[in-house]
Amino acid sequence: MARFVVAIDGGAGSGKSTTAKGVAKRLNFFYIDTGAMYRAFTLKYLRNDFAKGKRIDHELIRKLLAETTVDLRRENSDVKVYLDSEDVSLAIRTPEVSDFVSQISAISEVREWMVARQREVAEGKNVVCEGRDIGTVVFPDAQVKIFMEADVKVRAARRLKELGEKEIDAAEQDVMENIKFRDRFDSEREHSPLRKAENSIVVDTTNLTIEEEIEKVKAIVVERLAISGTEKP
Ligand code: DC
Repeated sequence: MARFVVAIDGGAGSGKSTTAKGVAKRLNFFYIDTGAMYRAFTLKYLRNDFAKGKRIDHELIRKLLAETTVDLRRENSDVKVYLDSEDVSLAIRTPEVSDFVSQISAISEVREWMVARQREVAEGKNVVCEGRDIGTVVFPDAQVKIFMEADVKVRAARRLKELGEKEIDAAEQDVMENIKFRDRFDSEREHSPLRKAENSIVVDTTNLTIEEEIEKVKAIVVERLAISGTEKP
């Protein structure tokens, strides 16, 4: 079992990753980016699917799940994503993966595999875990549940900036369309759709700086840590 869980859910570009990463660093919690795990498996699927995702090959999905490992490793102050012992931290951010990841992550077998793996990764640790179904499905007993929101224009601008920093080319309009498409797809899918957990705290980051959003969530966590009597690691 994980020790203390901070679950952060929200749509694409809502500020989840930056906040989760920042809070984890400041409290020395392990950071679990579940979107990165779905992206890693999507990358593997795309590498193996010669029709390049025209139609999802469920047989291939099952075969690949049985022979894939996805791992998150702390390296210096960063967490890297490994797919079968290859560092794919950068490769999973391409528009090709972004365009296809929602379809792959809507498949129930993929979700079951990922949820089990995410719980394994969290075993025995204090974690900040971010995604779409963390407070509802992966860690329904999380001590802190945050749901992040932001205006779609602000979200697209953030994504574009992140991609630029990684030297990945993308047009603003495409990034905006991808965010809208994924939000709709992720919220409307049958299996564990994106939705607010009942007892989550909503944080709207539209008008917050990165520093403000990290400090806001950190303050919530520190308060809960004190109440629960868990020592700050
Ligand atoms: O957080 P992200 O944008 O990197 O996530 C990529 C996709 O992975 C997202 O569009 C939906 C899927 N995902 C999911 O279904 N469940 C999660 N817990 C995390 C991500």
